[in-house]
Amino acid sequence: MPEWPEPQLPRPAEVVGIEHESPTVFTLRLRPAPVPGCPLPRFRPGQFNMLLLPGVGEIPISIVSDPRDAGLLDHTIRKVGRVTRALANLEPGDVIGLRGPYGRGWPLREREQHDLVVVTGGVGCAPVTGAIEYVIRRRERYGYLNIVQGVKHSDDFFWRERYARWAEAPDTEVLVAADEAGPLWPWHVGRVTELFDRLRFDPKRVSVLLCGPEGMMAAVIRELGARGVPDTSFWLSMERNMQCGVGLCGHCQIGPHFVCRDGPVFRYDEIAALFRKRGF
Ligand SMILES: Cc1cc2nc3c(=O)[nH]c(=O)nc-3n(C[C@H](O)[C@H](O)[C@H](O)COP(=O)(O)OP(=O)(O)OC[C@H]3O[C@@H](n4cnc5c(N)ncnc54)[C@H](O)[C@@H]3O)c2cc1C
Ligand code: FES
Repeated sequence: MPEWPEPQLPRPAEVVGIEHESPTVFTLRLRPAPVPGCPLPRFRPGQFNMLLLPGVGEIPISIVSDPRDAGLLDHTIRKVGRVTRALANLEPGDVIGLRGPYGRGWPLREREQHDLVVVTGGVGCAPVTGAIEYVIRRRERYGYLNIVQGVKHSDDFFWRERYARWAEAPDTEVLVAADEAGPLWPWHVGRVTELFDRLRFDPKRVSVLLCGPEGMMAAVIRELGARGVPDTSFWLSMERNMQCGVGLCGHCQIGPHFVCRDGPVFRYDEIAALFRKRGF
């Protein structure tokens, strides 16, 4: 089968649904237009698409949907600026541009038989959702699955049904923390790292998947490193300003690495020397 002729050329994608998950987060469900002779490329959990709103801008957004849901692509997005706010105002039937999937996803096949610790902050839960679903569908191939989500305020927590479903899976623990919480919040109040005594993993056979603010990821690496997890067992999904998405423009560089092409998922030791250094 031929590839879509120009990997950098957006294809039209119709908005088939928009779900408002919280006051600041929404999920856009897109159906890319079929292109004769050029099927949609398959994607892996952790990869991203570039979403183009003509006249407004183009931004990278991770793919949330299950790779098995052929033809429909979900993107869960936090409204922070010009493009994300404009995407939130779309309606079913509107058409935007889409190119991708791009980047390196989570190392799921390579880490079979490992315990998994997934720690996310805020909308950082979106890029790992596909990885969690992948593991839950192949539960017997992995060890204990720990899912930890942190939010600034309890009102920011979304996907309650999804987390409740994950908590029902065998050998799976779901832990949630909010820095600040309303009176009916049933989970922890405080930092995600304060929940780490409840994690179940063998430090010699664990993979830690991280996505969220870099300060949070650094704190997790410190805490779990002190519990014997080596740098080579942490995988981070990194965010940088992107323009081309395919390793041409240099906007997304962390030292010699292009986040769009070599990432967004990096093994920690690959970027440790530059992680959280100003200017990188
Ligand atoms: C590989 C990759 C995957 C991504 N996946 C997702 C995803 O699944 N969901 C998602 O919501 N976002 C995701 N992002 C981030 C998303 O691309 C940015 O939020 C988006 O580009 C902002 O565009 P904008 O025009 O709305 O904001 P801009 O107008 O560019 O920014 C407006 C203001 O918001 C600030 N800002 C920008 N981005 C963020 C941010 N992430 N957090 C806090 N403040 C910010 C800027 O500093 C600026 O002050 C991803 C980024 C990368 C690199
Ligand atoms: S966005 Fe252009 S090189 Fe990564």
